[in-house]
Amino acid sequence: MKKVTLLDLQAKKQRGEKITMLTAYDYPFAHLMDEVGIDTILVGDSLGMVVLGYESTLPVTMEEMLHHVKAVKRGVNRAFLIGDLPFMSYQASEEEAVRNAGAFMKAGCDAVKLEGGKKVVPKIKAIVNAGIPVLGHIGLTPQSISKLGGYRVQGRDIKSARRIIEDALALEAAGVFGIVLECIPYQLAKLITERLSIPTIGIGAGPYCDGQVLVIHDILGIFEKFTPRFVKVYANLATQIKTAIKDYKKEVETGEFPSLNHSYELPEETWENLLQDIEKMK
Ligand code: KIV
Repeated sequence: MKKVTLLDLQAKKQRGEKITMLTAYDYPFAHLMDEVGIDTILVGDSLGMVVLGYESTLPVTMEEMLHHVKAVKRGVNRAFLIGDLPFMSYQASEEEAVRNAGAFMKAGCDAVKLEGGKKVVPKIKAIVNAGIPVLGHIGLTPQSISKLGGYRVQGRDIKSARRIIEDALALEAAGVFGIVLECIPYQLAKLITERLSIPTIGIGAGPYCDGQVLVIHDILGIFEKFTPRFVKVYANLATQIKTAIKDYKKEVETGEFPSLNHSYELPEETWENLLQDIEKMK
């Protein structure tokens, strides 16, 4: 299988073919996604909420991200792998942004993602100048959740819609290879997608983006705390997992499992000899 590159993603936009992206945080899911041909895998800082049990993405550290990037990397042969720079790993200085982006690349990523508009342009430029591809992320940016006042649709009035368009243009000029558009009205996403020559990847941004990303735990129905309106749930694994665990618990408690079918047997002769051996030990 040929490895997906930035050129492939750009070519997909030009041909009007959709780019597929999903989040992964461990080896088994990454392996399955890679096998079915997902174009790009994002080790998102959503890790904090769907895997580590934090209330938001803010507590996620570089150490936690890199631990999961390395696990995901072991499952990926073909997909383009993107690591999400966590909160406060790139905001303070260009030097720190480059150093942390570099750590993702050393762990096996093909690119990094970071959140923010015009204000993060110097950080994006510094990382791109270091030879590291950057995916932008605007609209609803979960790392700024306190400032935004909650998980809500962005760009609903002219002023904020204009700001999002300006952010998209500024990010493209700064050298990002694509932009995630999160939770914005579909008309705005369509306009931005048409204006940019780089791909847009939507999440809660309607059908007109160049690609789509969702959190794997959301589409599989594993994360039960909340499901945003923009998520389509393709399987209800939480119910299946709970049923399997309940069945296991019941069978262990009743002695139904493990049966001899799930056990190893000593050959009759060895067993007899062992018994005689033990008799002699008495
Ligand atoms: O952290 C994440 O998973 C993300 C995507 C959902 C875009 O940023």
